[in-house]
Amino acid sequence: MTDRLTIRRPDDWHLHFRDDEVMRGVVPYTAWQFARAIVMPNLAPPVTHAAMAAQYRERILAAVPKGVRFTPLMTCYLTDDTDADDLARGAAEGIFTAAKLYPANATTNSAHGVSDVARVYPVLERMEAEDIVLCVHGEVTEDEIDVFDREAAFIERHLRGIVRDFPRLRVVFEHITTSDAVRFVRECGDGVAATITPQHLHINRNAMLVGGIRPHNYCLPVAKREEHRLALREAAVSGSPKFFLGTDSAPHLRSAKETACGCAGIFNAPFALESYLAVFDEEKALDRFESFASIHGPAFYGLPVNEETITLERAALEVPGELTLAGESIVPFHAGETLGWRLAG
Ligand code: NCD
Ligand code: ZN
Repeated sequence: MTDRLTIRRPDDWHLHFRDDEVMRGVVPYTAWQFARAIVMPNLAPPVTHAAMAAQYRERILAAVPKGVRFTPLMTCYLTDDTDADDLARGAAEGIFTAAKLYPANATTNSAHGVSDVARVYPVLERMEAEDIVLCVHGEVTEDEIDVFDREAAFIERHLRGIVRDFPRLRVVFEHITTSDAVRFVRECGDGVAATITPQHLHINRNAMLVGGIRPHNYCLPVAKREEHRLALREAAVSGSPKFFLGTDSAPHLRSAKETACGCAGIFNAPFALESYLAVFDEEKALDRFESFASIHGPAFYGLPVNEETITLERAALEVPGELTLAGESIVPFHAGETLGWRLAG
């Protein structure tokens, strides 16, 4: 039995740091594990311009613990009015690594998102020409579409068209939650990939709704049926370079989760690697963990792999029931559970 695993230092290709005190509290969790992370721009107000992203990057870097090497990779929040010149300049200057498409009102802080995908077609055309990666929150927002069907509907209504109309645009279908998404990504060319979160590998929708409503297992896109979870696990451990790690860690304080209208988002940053590794261990795919965590992402983004390594060891890891963040309580993913691996050293 493998009891120690040394891999190239991984990267997180999708997460939320927020800002101010919460940001300063969560950045160390990510920086201790990951060399780089794609930082989501859904602040209030959103990060829509290169100058805002450059300043946000500085604030993040100031929160990285001394002696830890960590590089935040910034994203531009697309709106109906995105300035394509500013985006292209920001990408050329190394401020932006990608741009993020949120359908308006699909999720937390997305009110300024894109109201109609057709409105950003000129920006997508420019991104294709400049080879800027598009990250997509793939859910429709129409009232008549059931929340459990919103990802599948987005593929048919929007994503298929984007991929057809911009064949050279590199697209990350983020935090996929369905077998429909797995199939779609597999059928597309090399320019289309997907990130998968730990929660969507561990839980199905029962974890949110059986035995009482469990707000800490609520995120968007919402966890789906068991058959979808199994399809995601199969994709994650398959070795296909189209699937890679993106935690979607989305911190909301306990008070914002345990309320009549709780926020969407699961805070998985503190034990993200251990959470993923539990899945690869259960699937007898420890030998494919490094490619999912550390190789496929940089290959897709056209970035070098990390030369440093990290080691994980088999050992009982008790996840606390709560943590303190910004002087308040926050409940991490796997709260109160025992995981079978932990970061060594
Ligand atoms: C994210 C957040 O809280 O910013 N929430 C979530 O449930 N994943 C937004 C997002 O990625 O959808
Ligand atoms: Zn997210």
